[in-house]
Amino acid sequence: MQIELTSLDATRRLGVALGCALPERAIVLCPGEMGSGKTTLIKSICEGLGVRRETVISPTYMLVNIYRGLRPVYHVDLFRLSRVEELLEMDRCDWINSEGPTLIEWPEIAMPLLAGETALTAHMSLVTGADNHRMLALAGDAEAFQAVFTTLDGATPAPARKPVGTPGGLRDKLQRH
Ligand SMILES: Nc1ncnc2c1ncn2[C@@H]1O[C@H](COP(=O)(O)OP(=O)(O)OP(=O)(O)O)[C@@H](O)[C@H]1O
Ligand SMILES: [Mg+2]
Repeated sequence: MQIELTSLDATRRLGVALGCALPERAIVLCPGEMGSGKTTLIKSICEGLGVRRETVISPTYMLVNIYRGLRPVYHVDLFRLSRVEELLEMDRCDWINSEGPTLIEWPEIAMPLLAGETALTAHMSLVTGADNHRMLALAGDAEAFQAVFTTLDGATPAPARKPVGTPGGLRDKLQRH
């Protein structure tokens, strides 16, 4: 699922909707180039999970931030990690939340450890020549993340069988701003 985010506000509304639809202990992988909006998106996902938005800050120096939401939310940033062994040396429950969602920026280095996990990937990309535009590619097990895909369905480019810009869809709302 590809979603065009045409403004900061569009990212915020999409993120909140995504957070509201996440399964209880979802793992969300957030790859994407530097400055593409991973933390910005995660702030809004957290908001959808009942976390106070202003408490969400990049955990680059901490590795893991834990926020109080409807359930605890783990926000992990592996940018500074150079070896997967550093994660292996940690207790798994120190960076994968057993009681709620785990949102991971720069997840690449941890992929060998996450191979068997059912994770949603939310890949943010910059759009050349458009400062506030971003592309979000969402991928994951259709059944496990059914609520996410159903909720955000209106935000995708309309498939041929649907008229483009179905009025009232999330896509319509996102693009109005
Ligand atoms: N539509 C948009 N969605 C997300 N961020 C946007 C958008 N438009 C502009 N921005 C800006 O882009 C910047 C993204 O910064 P952010 O820290 O979220 O990126 P990041 O991918 O987490 O960076 P890093 O790789 O350093 O962790 C912010 O300053 C944000 O305001
Ligand atoms: Mg970040």
